[in-house]
Amino acid sequence: MKITFYGAGNMASAIFIGMIENQVVKPEEIFLTSKSNKEKILFFKEKLGVNVAWDDKELMEDADYVILASKPQNFPEVADRIRDHIEEKTKVISVMAGTQINTIQTELGTNNPVARVMPNTNAMVQHSMSGITYSSNFKDRDELVELMESYGKIVEVEEDEMHNITAATGSGSAFLYYIYEKYAESLIELGFSEQQAMFLTKNLVIGAGKMVEESGITFSELRKNITSKNGTTEAGLEALDGDGIRKILTTTLNAAKNRSEEISRGEN
Ligand SMILES: NC(=O)c1ccc[n+]([C@@H]2O[C@H](COP(=O)([O-])OP(=O)(O)OC[C@H]3O[C@@H](n4cnc5c(N)ncnc54)[C@H](OP(=O)(O)O)[C@@H]3O)[C@@H](O)[C@H]2O)c1
Repeated sequence: MKITFYGAGNMASAIFIGMIENQVVKPEEIFLTSKSNKEKILFFKEKLGVNVAWDDKELMEDADYVILASKPQNFPEVADRIRDHIEEKTKVISVMAGTQINTIQTELGTNNPVARVMPNTNAMVQHSMSGITYSSNFKDRDELVELMESYGKIVEVEEDEMHNITAATGSGSAFLYYIYEKYAESLIELGFSEQQAMFLTKNLVIGAGKMVEESGITFSELRKNITSKNGTTEAGLEALDGDGIRKILTTTLNAAKNRSEEISRGEN
């Protein structure tokens, strides 16, 4: 197999490191290129044994997949590099936020199969929650699913649902970090030192994550299991509901989704 990455930044490196560590590809099957930061990708060559190149003919020749992992605003330059070299067999995978399948096909001047994947940065610890959507001519999806599952879980959606995925899981980690951050700040107000507040919140989050993963029961059941009648948890939850946590989260997610739609329409 040959997989060529245009872009070797945060997201691309999380993906190819996941693929290599989980042995779904060998380092020598990966080709990396970047715009100008040669040092960074030479580091990956030295550390992981992947190939690096700047010659587009060499990068695209016989490639099974080309992964578009630059920022969306750099895509026109990337398309200029790829257009004359893309072969019929090459499937195009884009991780760029907001760039539509038909824009990708138009810019590349091809009807090659395209899949859009929206991962999140938890890919760095092989726990991405990614959305994926395909062009109608994308056959043999199982191989791609196996590659993408090497760095986390995926859910297949229609292309117009990618804005929801962008909000829910692309931006979603940041929303949860923000809640943890505010939780830690509230612990300081309660009287803990900053160091204690960070330590308590961090381990609460890790423990809750493990319970979610390992208990096999729903969030609601987990919550109910620690909420006794007239107890401290019930008192706290009533205050949380009173302050409209659900309404706040719905507003947050809609703001992110609307921004994703604006970006895909080219609005700054
Ligand atoms: N980070 C996230 O949480 C996240 C989540 C979901 C999706 N995404 C998407 O992932 C994509 C990459 O994000 P990132 O955070 O990884 O960005 P990044 O760290 O800035 O990496 C961008 C990469 O693209 C390369 N590049 C730019 N122009 C190029 C060109 N003409 N030819 C080849 N390579 C080129 C850059 O090379 P140089 O270093 O040489 O400039 C760099 O390696 C974005 O489209 C973003 O929407 C990111």
